[in-house]
Amino acid sequence: MNKRVLVTEPIIPSVIDTLKEHFEVEVGERGTYNDEQALIDAIPEYDALLPMLSNPVTVDVINAGKNLKIIANHAVGYNNIDVEAAHRQNVHVANTPGVLSDSCAEFTMALMLAVGRRLYEAQRHLQDGNFDGWDPLGFLGMELQGSRLGIIGMGRIGQAVARRARALGMEILYHNRSRLAADIEDPLSAEYCEEVADLARRADVLTLHCPLTEETTHLIDNRILSIMGEDTILINTARGPVVDEAALAEALHEGKIGGAGIDVFEKEPEVHPRLKTAPRCLLTPHIASASHKTREAIGMLAANAIIGILQGASPSDIPNLIEP
Ligand code: GLV
Ligand code: GLV
Repeated sequence: MNKRVLVTEPIIPSVIDTLKEHFEVEVGERGTYNDEQALIDAIPEYDALLPMLSNPVTVDVINAGKNLKIIANHAVGYNNIDVEAAHRQNVHVANTPGVLSDSCAEFTMALMLAVGRRLYEAQRHLQDGNFDGWDPLGFLGMELQGSRLGIIGMGRIGQAVARRARALGMEILYHNRSRLAADIEDPLSAEYCEEVADLARRADVLTLHCPLTEETTHLIDNRILSIMGEDTILINTARGPVVDEAALAEALHEGKIGGAGIDVFEKEPEVHPRLKTAPRCLLTPHIASASHKTREAIGMLAANAIIGILQGASPSDIPNLIEP
């Protein structure tokens, strides 16, 4: 019997075609499997699951998957999957490291530049018919050249951001679970900060690239926002719950920080209403990896892990499996 794969939403067609060369493939309707019960009901029929980061792959979903061999997330972050529960059931879990680092880093720079130079406010000003000629005091913003960038989470994405920021003349400070080796730190002239508070105090721009874990939930809270300077910009392209969204909204409304560029939210697709109306804040709908090239690479990496496992390859030959 043909093995069966559930792809929970339409993704780049070439990826679906690749899976169809080997398996029976079902593609869910967008949004259907954001519901845990829908996944529990569907999963017993499938040998492999290719979920989106918006699908809750909980212990109950995994336990219902009696034929399930692999869950290959269409994302690098995998906080939507109960990895321990999967490993207890001998189900492999894969993510997509590496392929989206450049896309995410480019997008992070785009947010930094856009918030720093107030692009969206400036466009609205012009569209609203308020452009009354060159203004020596109009739209004064932050130059990245010579500014200090604080990076929280110095994995592949954090390092890709650091390289781009160096090219723009920024100084690099970073916080990470562990300090990086000198051969990574030295070319970036990156200075390690053991305390997030220290980074928040010194950075002109603070950008988040850590995974969402218990330790990083609300890492950026009222205390850290109060330590940041009134000109400091916060960028989040990691996961929404790393930031206390209500506290961020108030900090912006009260002018406690300089601005924010936010691509990820605590309860997607909801966005805190006070954040939507906050000044000096650019909000985007979780699109940091959304280039055609990268979304295809993400899909192919997930698909190849499924093909490998269902065709009996040795797990050690599949580079993107998460270790038990
Ligand atoms: C996107 O947010 C990802 O984790 O790939
Ligand atoms: C993502 O690829 C990371 O490890 O930072």
